Amino acid sequence: MITVPKVQIVVTVVATWVVLVEWISSSVVYSGGIPLSIVSANVQPPHPYHHHHHPKVDESITSTFSSSTSTSTSLSLPPNFVIILTDDLDWTLGGTHASTLRRTREWIAEQGKTFTNWFVQTPVCCPSRAELLTGKFFHNLRLPSGQKGEGGCMHVDVASNASHPFYQRDYFASYFQQLNYTVGIFGKHLNNANPTDFLPNGVDEMLINDGGVYLDPTFTVGTRGTRPPHQVTFNNCTETTGMPCYSTSVIGNASLAWIQRHRQQQLKQQFPHTKPFLALISLKAPHILDGPDFPISIPAPWYQNTTIPEQMAPRTPNYNYSATDHHWVVRSQLPMTQEEAERVDALYVSRLKTLLSVDDLVDALIPLLDLNNTYLLFTSDNGYRLGQFRMPMCKLHPYENDIRVPMMIRGPKIRKNTTSNLLATHVDLMPTLLGLVTNANANANDDERKENIPIPETMDGTNLASCILDESSTTKSSCSSSHSTFLLMEYMSLGTVFRYNHTVDTYNHSFLAIRMMMPQPEISSNDPTLSLHNLKYVEYRDSRWDWNATQPPLEQELFDLDKDPYELHNILSTVSPLLVQTLQFKLQRLFHCRGDICRQERQQQQQQQNDRTVEHYGRNTGNDHMRELMFTVP
Ligand SMILES: *[C@@H]1O[C@H](CO)[C@@H](O)[C@H](O)[C@H]1NC(C)=O
Ligand SMILES: *[C@@H]1O[C@H](CO)[C@@H](O)[C@H](O)[C@H]1NC(C)=O
Ligand SMILES: *[C@@H]1O[C@H](CO)[C@@H](O)[C@H](O)[C@H]1NC(C)=O
Ligand SMILES: *[C@@H]1O[C@H](CO)[C@@H](O)[C@H](O)[C@H]1NC(C)=O
Ligand SMILES: *[C@@H]1O[C@H](CO)[C@@H](O)[C@H](O)[C@H]1NC(C)=O
Ligand SMILES: *[C@@H]1O[C@H](CO)[C@@H](O)[C@H](O)[C@H]1NC(C)=O
Ligand SMILES: *[C@@H]1O[C@H](CO)[C@@H](O)[C@H](O)[C@H]1NC(C)=O
Ligand SMILES: *[C@@H]1O[C@H](CO)[C@@H](O)[C@H](O)[C@H]1NC(C)=O
Ligand SMILES: *[C@@H]1O[C@H](CO)[C@@H](O)[C@H](O)[C@H]1NC(C)=O
Ligand SMILES: *[C@@H]1O[C@H](CO)[C@@H](O)[C@H](O)[C@H]1NC(C)=O
Ligand SMILES: *[C@@H]1O[C@H](CO)[C@@H](O)[C@H](O)[C@H]1NC(C)=O
Repeated sequence: MITVPKVQIVVTVVATWVVLVEWISSSVVYSGGIPLSIVSANVQPPHPYHHHHHPKVDESITSTFSSSTSTSTSLSLPPNFVIILTDDLDWTLGGTHASTLRRTREWIAEQGKTFTNWFVQTPVCCPSRAELLTGKFFHNLRLPSGQKGEGGCMHVDVASNASHPFYQRDYFASYFQQLNYTVGIFGKHLNNANPTDFLPNGVDEMLINDGGVYLDPTFTVGTRGTRPPHQVTFNNCTETTGMPCYSTSVIGNASLAWIQRHRQQQLKQQFPHTKPFLALISLKAPHILDGPDFPISIPAPWYQNTTIPEQMAPRTPNYNYSATDHHWVVRSQLPMTQEEAERVDALYVSRLKTLLSVDDLVDALIPLLDLNNTYLLFTSDNGYRLGQFRMPMCKLHPYENDIRVPMMIRGPKIRKNTTSNLLATHVDLMPTLLGLVTNANANANDDERKENIPIPETMDGTNLASCILDESSTTKSSCSSSHSTFLLMEYMSLGTVFRYNHTVDTYNHSFLAIRMMMPQPEISSNDPTLSLHNLKYVEYRDSRWDWNATQPPLEQELFDLDKDPYELHNILSTVSPLLVQTLQFKLQRLFHCRGDICRQERQQQQQQQNDRTVEHYGRNTGNDHMRELMFTVP
């Protein structure tokens, strides 16, 4: 049980929001689906693509909130959270840096912190989302056997059932509810096994689906206490706009209206009569519209003909690369044809164009938030591939483009325009946000509390709040004590999967992987082994026969990511077998971990004496030994 310290913080609430009246001409339609009544006048420079496509803005200004008034209120309201979760947005192939997300970067990255080493534990939607929503590792979330069991979701043990432990016990919202948060979930939830006739524990409002379609989408909509969950198809936009309802607009309108309602309540009432909120806004963009043959993503109808500068998917060194020393799925790929390359480029452009509406949503969100007391996050459920290793599209692999995701956070005590190389995954997200609740309200001198933020027993992730906040040296020291050196990745195959005529998955492509990043300062700059501080080791098995990874791996890969950031060379056969055994050993320990043990295992410093597994392996695999091994590698 987490308690919020009763520390009074004086917050000056400046209600300076003013409202622009926009006129929608018959030929142009407003883009992001932002309710007109809540668009702020303090909007930033015009979006490049809006010069021609954005509706004309009338200069006459009216106000809903008392304009430019400043009230000083004594509050101890814990911070609000708004999490924007995109679907399949990559970090390494330019997606996050696209021209179509310019304002998102301005509003979030430049006003906050960008995490350059944020990963998913599993590079596919449902497990990755489940990991984010529960703070649990995949091995503690999955079905006990490899068969696609009743109600499972890409092997995650979950059912559309209010009493299922996933929704009853593990779901993040129940922990925020204990802290008196009101929680709204909007947009894509899991790929199946979503709530249809109940709200998960702790959720007050929902408008969710499995990703659905871009145009005229259907959602399950419900409000605790007043509106039982029911299905709504949003297919009523043509009359007013002449175009179909667009998924990002429907999700955007619902989440913006909900946030506006809760902000108004926060302004009217004082803590403890009002509640902080957490909104999870999960967009389909830039995911493909699922379908046969060569599916692409669908931009908003009003952006359909917008031209963007990006035209070609990046030709990274591993684009169309024949990796003969990689896993079977990779080494058996045929070269990409010219036609495939063109289709991939078209897919790339369509993906980026769906982000125009995401950018509009972020832009509309900003004026609604109390930015001095709100953490605003922008991320994705996994990365993506656009021709890497000859596979035209999809994810599901342990390579950087699939597992590395954007993570930008702005909020109280986070310095503007900074970056962090902290090693983290989505499993850490909920423990970290819970940590921010406590930390943000903790007294500056309350160091003990900051270092002892309890993490719910069900969670395996680490609370990285002290690594995210820019504060005192105390924060830094508690950060280094939670800083991870090792990450675990887990993927259980979905079976045989084809994408754009290429096989991208088979049962024997199930993998466990470990990422090791030794902190830079530990190794001196003229050290020849400097490059060995960033390694990825992967073991492949057939999940049908070896669900619990008790057999030796069928195939292995080892990459030195400093020397070889595009993972062109599997160096497994060139390194000391001891290094490989050490990584295998560490991988097995992480694969069997739960709760506190996971947090300990991920740190480099922990001692591993009196451990039966160590005896079994017959050697000390502590930190010293790890470094020794690294230094003896050829
Ligand atoms: C937010 O904090 C900044 C810096 O502390 C201050 O200048 C600004 O007035 C605050 N804004 C609001 C709305 O409280
Ligand atoms: C979202 O709200 C805007 C402004 O009220 C409206 O024009 C638009 O049609 C709405 N979009 C959807 C999909 O409901
Ligand atoms: C995997 O291990 C778990 C825990 O020991 C066990 O319950 C499960 O039956 C095993 N699954 C298979 C397929 O062997
Ligand atoms: C719901 O889940 C619980 C726990 O897993 C199970 O005991 C129960 O049978 C399920 N109910 C339905 C209707 O599926
Ligand atoms: C939540 O609200 C209740 C009732 O207002 C209060 O008794 C309780 O202390 C609050 N809990 C926290 C963690 O603030
Ligand atoms: C369409 O229907 C939804 C759900 O009933 C409603 O909330 C929305 O305002 C309607 N939109 C338009 C443009 O009529
Ligand atoms: C986009 O261009 C196509 C083909 O020229 C046209 O049919 C369509 O109406 C245009 N869409 C918009 C929103 O202008
Ligand atoms: C992919 O590489 C092969 C050679 O390995 C080459 O023949 C082919 O043209 C390349 N495809 C593209 C789209 O560049
Ligand atoms: C953020 O940093 C970049 C690069 O250092 C700089 O170009 C940009 O102007 C900065 N933005 C802000 C808002 O400080
Ligand atoms: C994809 O495969 C189908 C069936 O094997 C074939 O008809 C089609 O020509 C292929 N397309 C491309 C672009 O290779
Ligand atoms: C993996 O599975 C594929 C297809 O099922 C098969 O062709 C291939 O030989 C297998 N590879 C290994 C290393 O077992």
